[in-house]
Amino acid sequence: MNSISSSSDSLAVPTVSELKKNKIPFHVAIIMDGNGRWALKRNLPRISGHRKGVIVLKNIVITCKELGIKYLTVYSFSSENWQRPRIEVKNLMVLFLDSIKRELEDLNKNGVRLKLIGQRETIPAKILKTFEYSEQKTKNNKELFLNIAFNYGSRQEIIDAVKKLYIAARNNFINIDNIDVKTFSKFLYTEDFPDPDLLIRTSGESRISNFMLWQIAYTELYFTKTLWPDFSKKHFLKAIYNFQRRSRRFGKL
Ligand code: IPE
Ligand code: IPE
Ligand code: MG
Repeated sequence: MNSISSSSDSLAVPTVSELKKNKIPFHVAIIMDGNGRWALKRNLPRISGHRKGVIVLKNIVITCKELGIKYLTVYSFSSENWQRPRIEVKNLMVLFLDSIKRELEDLNKNGVRLKLIGQRETIPAKILKTFEYSEQKTKNNKELFLNIAFNYGSRQEIIDAVKKLYIAARNNFINIDNIDVKTFSKFLYTEDFPDPDLLIRTSGESRISNFMLWQIAYTELYFTKTLWPDFSKKHFLKAIYNFQRRSRRFGKL
C-alpha cells in the first residue's frame, strides 16, 4: 500500500491479505443509507434501490465471515422511517419478509446467528413472527452474529431500558446502587453484545440518525459518499483498512 491519505474516500483499496489479522474489528455496525437516491439516479422506483441493498448486504455478510468479523449490526428500518409515504413502507415490509424467508436457510448453513434489535411490541405481528422464527432457527450458530436493527430508535431503546430497569428494581431483582455501565447495557436491545468498534455510514450523510447512541461512545466513525447499493467488498475492505490505521485511546495516553 503506498497511496495513503487522510480522506476515507480517496484511500487505495487493500486486498484481504494486506489487512492486519490482529486488528480486525470485532463488531462492525452499518447505517445502510442511499438506496432511494441510487434508484432515483437511474430513473427507477425507490424500491429497486432497496432490493439492490439486500444483495449488497449479503455480499458484506460473506466478507465479514471471510475476515473473521464476529458481529455485524445493520440499520435496516428506523422508528422514524414509518413516517415515509405508505407505499414505500409497504414495499419495504414486503421486501423484509421476502428477504428473510429467502435467505434464512443459506444464513443458517453459513453459521450466521440472526437477532432483531428494535422495539418488538410495535412491530407488525407477521414481521415479528418471521424475525423471531429466524432467531430461534439460528440460535446455536456461532460464526457471525448478524443483528438487524428494525423499528429501531436509540432514544426509545434507552427509554425502554430505563423502564425495564425500574421494574427490575421494584421487584428487587436489581439494586439501584449497583447500576453501572455494564448493568445498564444489558437492558438495551443489544443486551450483552460488545460495543461496535467501527461504524460505517454510506451515502455522504455525516450523521447518526438515532442509531446506537449509547453503544457508539468510543466507536470509530467512517463516512463514505458511496451509496449503499454501490457499496462493494472493495469499499468495505477500504473501511477496514482505514480503521486499522487509527489510534484508539479510550481517553488514556
Ligand atoms: C436507506 O436508504 C434505507 C432505509 C432507510 C430503509 P434510504 O431509503 O434512506 O435512501 P435515501 O437516503 O433516500 O437515498
Ligand atoms: C437511517 O437513514 C436509517 C436507515 C438507514 C435504516 P435515514 O435515511 O432514515 O436517515 P436520515 O433521514 O437521512 O437522517
Ligand atoms: Mg436515507
